[in-house]
Amino acid sequence: MPPETPAQLIPAPSSIDGTRRGGFTLDARTTLSAGPGTETTERWLRSTLAPALGLALAPGDEGGGAAKNTIRLVVDETLESEGYRLQISAEEGVELRGGSGAGVFWGAQTLRQLLGPEAFRRAPLTGHKPTVIAEQTIEDRPRFSWRGLMLDVARHFTHKSDVLRYLDLLAAHKLNVFHFHLTDDQGWRIEIKRYPKLTEIGAWRSRTKWGHRFSDLWDEKPYGGYYTQDDIREIVAYATARHITVVPEIDIPGHSQAAIAAYPELGNSDVVDTAALAPWETWGVNPNVLAPTEHTVEFYEGVLEEVLELFPADTSPFIHMGGDECPKGQWRQSPTAQARIEQLGLADEDELQSWMIRHFDGWLTSRGRRLIGWDEILEGGLAPGATVSSWRGYAGGITAAEAGHDVVMCPEQQVYLDHRQDGGIDEPMPIGYVRTLEDVYRFEPVPPGLSPEAAAHVIGTQANVWTEVMQDRSRIDYQVFPRLVAFAEVAWSALPAPEARDFADFERRMVEHYRRLDALGVDYRPPGGPLPWQKRPGVQGFPREGAPPTV
Ligand code: ACM
Repeated sequence: MPPETPAQLIPAPSSIDGTRRGGFTLDARTTLSAGPGTETTERWLRSTLAPALGLALAPGDEGGGAAKNTIRLVVDETLESEGYRLQISAEEGVELRGGSGAGVFWGAQTLRQLLGPEAFRRAPLTGHKPTVIAEQTIEDRPRFSWRGLMLDVARHFTHKSDVLRYLDLLAAHKLNVFHFHLTDDQGWRIEIKRYPKLTEIGAWRSRTKWGHRFSDLWDEKPYGGYYTQDDIREIVAYATARHITVVPEIDIPGHSQAAIAAYPELGNSDVVDTAALAPWETWGVNPNVLAPTEHTVEFYEGVLEEVLELFPADTSPFIHMGGDECPKGQWRQSPTAQARIEQLGLADEDELQSWMIRHFDGWLTSRGRRLIGWDEILEGGLAPGATVSSWRGYAGGITAAEAGHDVVMCPEQQVYLDHRQDGGIDEPMPIGYVRTLEDVYRFEPVPPGLSPEAAAHVIGTQANVWTEVMQDRSRIDYQVFPRLVAFAEVAWSALPAPEARDFADFERRMVEHYRRLDALGVDYRPPGGPLPWQKRPGVQGFPREGAPPTV
């Protein structure tokens, strides 16, 4: 018998043809036939899905022939690259065809949802429980090719095992970009062999602001951590096995105090005593920025040479160079920076920053990579090959898209998941604007009014998670979930215009999805507000009042 209620799929697929005459029963005898190009999905089914349900999934039916009790995985290039068709038939078993290995993998994520919350269990089940899936055919493809999450591991360090867990959570939601914010004022988190002090000194701070920057509280413990190059390789391999591209971010020329603390000659030492600087202990926009010298450029080329080795071109075509929030005060005062402006024939400090970003755009392009930066890289002129992460609203993204540059829309006012989820006093991280689950569900990455040509340059969207007030994994979970689920549907599904979106239907499907998140051990914010242990009195916040600006 088919199950009584259809699975509540999230993100919503393009179409479901559910005649539901009968059901297919997955049981101890079900075999797995994996065609060429489907190896990642085969491994994932064996390592994750089969143990959760206590299934053996013996190899079988290699020729795609007559066996009925089989899951067949097939790459079918007549389908869209990341698209898939999932056919469940009582007679024929499960056939999952994808336009590529990625398409098959996303289809397997849908299959997991069809199998019920038990399929999300993390502990292996001994003995199996036959599971019935209703007969149906699901056709699906993503709206955007860039469906991302940015995690800031600089303000608070996320241990490697928690990064891997987040990659699993992204995959479960068909998100395919992990933007890895590896460097900032408060910590340098990636081992660079030729510059060991970046992590010996730059990865550790002596104490940490507790709460927002205006808070008067401190955590007086030394704090830090970093990823070894082996850790990075493991993270990249884990992501690649889940069809997730990792975009490493090495932020220049602002957000660099940790690097300057390690190598003081990188800073504007003719203006400040850079030898006295340490990794920053508090939050905000930091005045201590990189000196715009040949030495700095050569140093960062050395960093990038190792970064390019660790993040190979086929799986990490994009390298993020930051470019955000670089105060120009030190450059205005610095005779060295002023001489540089004159020598290069530039108009001002904005053009000096643009010169630096252009340099790395050319450097990366000549090595077969693409530079992406925050929308401040528009100031002083956009580098020819640059892609823009539009975070200060939509405006930078609109300008860049109209100028023919690719854009990832991630406006702070809409999809910064560090912003609080409710205006109540129980909200444990009371910073930013209130951005509810429904607000995120109604986020539209392509602003109205963009010409079709410009709109085609919006290659996708991502949600960003800054961790100043998130000290551990449970805190991050609370901020990210359930809003990332709504975001994933925005990024994947072809939803109508924001005002026409059926949030009630999304909430109805969320009832089942919360059970999946429970099985995955995600400390999400429940619909009714934080649980007693999730409340955190004493964290001093910085709420912004009223509605956020829209564009
Ligand atoms: C940013 O939020 N500074 C990109």
